[in-house]
Amino acid sequence: MKVIVLQDEAAIGQAVGGLFCEAVRQKPDAVLGLATGASPIPAYQHMISQYKAGEVSFRGVTTFNLDEYCGLPEEHPNSYRSFMRAELFGQIDILPENTHFLDGNTADERAESERFRALIEQCGGIDLQLLGIGRNGHIGFNEPAEAFTQEAFKAALTPSTIAANSVYFTDIPMPEYAMTMGVGSILRAKKIVLVATGSAKADAVKAMLEGEITPRCPASALQGHADVTVCLDTAAAALLQK
Ligand code: GLP
Repeated sequence: MKVIVLQDEAAIGQAVGGLFCEAVRQKPDAVLGLATGASPIPAYQHMISQYKAGEVSFRGVTTFNLDEYCGLPEEHPNSYRSFMRAELFGQIDILPENTHFLDGNTADERAESERFRALIEQCGGIDLQLLGIGRNGHIGFNEPAEAFTQEAFKAALTPSTIAANSVYFTDIPMPEYAMTMGVGSILRAKKIVLVATGSAKADAVKAMLEGEITPRCPASALQGHADVTVCLDTAAAALLQK
């Protein structure tokens, strides 16, 4: 995996957002895999500023988001749909009908998983996938487990993830389940960029890059992918062997 260490979030936003803009300039109908959480926000801000400067258009782009909470109405401010609208989609020229999410309220998780898999395949697969990483090494909502997950599924969230993400939930308790793309589906992306910032991610980053490939650290599966770039700030990179 290629590792890039930058000074701060602004530099990471520019580097990662720049990769996404470049991918879209090269292929205006690119298929992008997108992530939520704090880590991707600087990259989204860079993409918005490039769009506003007339440097890139997202009109032909299709997106697939990694995950969505279960039990939240789509319009709830904490849904990942709402997050994406606020942080990116509402500020660029992407067509809403080309932005795809797993349905966290599905009554049939297997059918929903298959719908998502087939739709991604129909669009030609994901060209460039953005990822963050959880403090316990999760990607999407693939928590540490006994086996790597494959296709999208309904995940039970761990106490560590619930503690980390609860700060965003002010009016209702945080959902304890989410629909997420599986590790297998994430690895099918042609190119992957993972962003991690801050000291709380340092252990997970070390396990992902220097530990064994194990479902106890789902992000370690990325070691088996041929085109992964990991973009870190100095705090997230602090425990790596120099
Ligand atoms: C969340 C998301 C992940 C994200 C991770 C880290 O639970 N499901 O996709 O990468 O946790 O979030 P953050 O970037 O806010 O630290």
